[in-house]
Amino acid sequence: MKPTGPIPPHFAASDSGQLLIGGYPAEELVAEAGGTPLFVYDNNIVGAQVARFKGAMADGIGLNYAVTANPYEPLLEFLGRYVDGFRVVSLGELKRLQKAKLAGIPMNFAGPGKLDVELEESVKAGATISVESEGEALRAIRAAERVGIQPKISVRVTPPFTIEAGRVTMGSVASPFGVDADRVPSVVQGLIEAGVDWRGLHMFAGAQCLDSEALAEVHRLTVIHAGEIADAIGAPLPELNLGSGFDVACKPGDEPLDIDKVAVALNETLCNAPSPLATTRFTIELGRWLVGESGVYLTRVLDRTESCGQTFLTTDGGGHHLIGATGSLGERGMANFPIAVANRFGAPPEEAVTVTGCLCTPFDVLGDQVALPRAEEGDLIAVFCAGAYGLSASPQAWESRPMAKEMLV
Ligand SMILES: Cc1ncc(COP(=O)(O)O)c(C=O)c1O
Repeated sequence: MKPTGPIPPHFAASDSGQLLIGGYPAEELVAEAGGTPLFVYDNNIVGAQVARFKGAMADGIGLNYAVTANPYEPLLEFLGRYVDGFRVVSLGELKRLQKAKLAGIPMNFAGPGKLDVELEESVKAGATISVESEGEALRAIRAAERVGIQPKISVRVTPPFTIEAGRVTMGSVASPFGVDADRVPSVVQGLIEAGVDWRGLHMFAGAQCLDSEALAEVHRLTVIHAGEIADAIGAPLPELNLGSGFDVACKPGDEPLDIDKVAVALNETLCNAPSPLATTRFTIELGRWLVGESGVYLTRVLDRTESCGQTFLTTDGGGHHLIGATGSLGERGMANFPIAVANRFGAPPEEAVTVTGCLCTPFDVLGDQVALPRAEEGDLIAVFCAGAYGLSASPQAWESRPMAKEMLV
């Protein structure tokens, strides 16, 4: 038997033992969607996360949603009512916002490898372009000249520090993400001389961190560092985008991030911020922390089989929809996401089983030797923490199998 991550606290069972998502029995949602595999996102959970962020953070700290985490349009439309802006990385993401009737909302267009057409369209959309290099800064200026609009440009800085406790580190190493700090002042001066609307700096030191002290420290270093850069530029800093780094507890042994501690520490950091930051607006751009826990992936058991004393449940889902839960199809059993039998939710575990997807690879494992109540062909499996980097981050074309359905409740 192997451990799983913790089931997020928002989920309960109906009297008949059905997993309730947003108050609806899982089987009812599957019937409404027309079958499995199905991602269900609970907007109450997303709304509660936004409210937690806003309640914890000092007034005026902006909250952007990073569309890459989950670009499902009904979810974007819902979030558009509550967040201060969005972070997009492609024309495709920008168009999704437009389809979600969010054309005029503040946007930060960030990420490497921007196409000329993307630069033009983001200028037209009024987005702030976070440039990753000197060359990209020049291309952004030219794109703006072509469309005849003054561009809003910020500069992404490669942080000379990182989030040590994060699962992904982005600073302190050679990187195509942003400009090395010592070159940033001259890039900004060039932008100002070229007549762009300089919007400030963007620093993203790492992702997937559950340690509030590590995040507090990275915020402190980011602010100090931004102050030094603004000093060298010789102009006040309009905005400082502090990136993300906030994770959700979805692996065995994970403890939820204490956002109140992060907020208290950030407040203290901002109270002591260096003088070039006296009028700076601060933004945090979150993806997985806002939506990760809201998602449940529902997949039907197609087969129950035994081999060498182990029981396997083969489902109609898998890593082509939720690659993160399978440990990226290259490292079997990396860590089990929380998992349950949705039509026997809350029933005591009876056996250790391995829940697999339907792909023709032994790496397609959704739950490696997990403790579950007995499940048979036709039962419904729920994989939790499926709201971020799920369907859009998975190799859906693998084996040309049906796409998963999605639903917001
Ligand atoms: C610059 C930047 N900001 C924010 C995010 C969102 O990260 P997360 O979903 O971990 O919050 C990413 C993720 O790729 C990113 O690259």
